[in-house]
Parts: sequence; C-alpha cells; structure tokens
Amino acid sequence: MEKGKMLYEGKAKQVFATSDPDQVLVYYKDDATAFNGEKKGTINSKGVLNNAISTLFFELLEKDGVPTHFLKKIDDRGMLVKKLKIIPIEVIVRNIAAGSLAKRLGWEEGRALPQPVIEFCYKDDALGDPLINRYHALALEAATSRDMDYLEEAGLKINRILSDYLKDRQTILVDFKLEFGFHQGRILLGDEISPDTCRFWDEATREKLDKDRFRRDLGQVEEAYQEMYKRIKG
Ligand code: TMP
Repeated sequence: MEKGKMLYEGKAKQVFATSDPDQVLVYYKDDATAFNGEKKGTINSKGVLNNAISTLFFELLEKDGVPTHFLKKIDDRGMLVKKLKIIPIEVIVRNIAAGSLAKRLGWEEGRALPQPVIEFCYKDDALGDPLINRYHALALEAATSRDMDYLEEAGLKINRILSDYLKDRQTILVDFKLEFGFHQGRILLGDEISPDTCRFWDEATREKLDKDRFRRDLGQVEEAYQEMYKRIKG
C-alpha cells in the first residue's frame, strides 16, 4: 500500500493517505507526552511495540465480534486501517480506581470497583479533554443517544474480552481509553490499544506495566512496554 501525503500528526502517531480514499496508514512514533502535552519525552521502541500490541488486540477483538478499523500490520511501525470520522468522545472503562478517578473521588489507587465504571471525555485539547456525561455529548451534538448506547455497550464488551485475555497472562486490566468513529455508516473501534492508553498491573506484585511509568518517572519504561508485548503475544 503506497504511502501518500500526511493527513494528520498527533502526539503519538502520524496518519497518511493511501491510494484508497477509504483506507489510511497509521505510523506509531516513539514520542511520549503526558498531562495534555506538558511533559514530553521519547520511549525507545515504543512505536514498534505499540503497533505490535495494538495489532494483537485488534485481531483478538475482531475475532470476538467487535468491529474495528484494523485491516493489517504493514511493517514495524505501520498499520493499514479503515478511515474513520472520529467521534470526539473518549470512552474510558475502569475496573480498579487509579489516576484521575482516584483523585476525583479521593479514593486510594488500587481500590477494586464492584462493577466497571464507564466515563466519557470530550476530545478537546484546549479544554484538556473534560469529563462529560451523555447529556453533554447530546448537547454538543457529538453523538446521538443510540451512538452513546453503542459506545457504552462496546466499552463493556471490550473490557470483558481484554480483561479475560490479560488475566490468563497474569495481568490486571486496571483501566483503558477507547476511541470510535464512523466508516460507511457504521461505528468502528479506532485509535490504538496499548500501554499508552491502558493501565496494566502485574497480578502478583501490582507493578505498573504501562505509561504511568513515564508519567510518574518510575523508570524502566521501555522494559515495561517490552514485558507487556511479551505477555500479550504469549
Ligand atoms: P486517567 O485516570 O488519567 O483519566 O486515565 C484513564 C485511562 O485513560 C488510562 O488507562 C490512561 C488513558 N488515557 C489516555 O489514553 N489518554 C489520555 O490523554 C489520558 C489522560 C488517559
């Protein structure tokens, strides 16, 4: 697939046109940011690892009946995907309190939630991706009520599939963020699923194996991404 002009460059990925207007190439970079771009850095091999990890997760989800934008892995850093019109709503699913949820409710990080918690954030860098509910989403005309139902159902289903898969690999899926978009009238899962967008803890030690190592300067960042690739592949 021929790489055309760059359509978009984000913090962690670049998107290129292809000869097919319905397909784009996504390239995963080693650049890492946190706190809405305030903290910047590089994680060696992150792009290669996130491309490989996202490929495995998208394949797993497709196999279990979740429609995604994924078509195929092209090379180390690139995947071919269906072009989406992204819905500007991040869907966050949580199994254990951590990060902004722990902070907002004054909960200890690591507190188990009796059932998964779904959150929505409005994708707007200038506003810092604020937390919203479905009424805000409707008022923003970012999604319809049916779309919101789908995002919630898909989020919970993806949570079950990924949590089970990771549990068999001695890893807890603490929380994660998803993005969806429209392709030919259908909502597909888009973006990536990687240690950049999920929290993974070792089941026995609760060691962090995700981007929190970068956000919180815990060290061994690349090693954590490598370890997650090894677990997910195995
Ligand atoms: P949070 O606890 O900081 O709100 O993060 C919840 C989940 O969403 C966590 O798995 C990390 C992921 N996430 C992103 O993918 N992108 C972001 O910009 C943020 C803030 C979180």
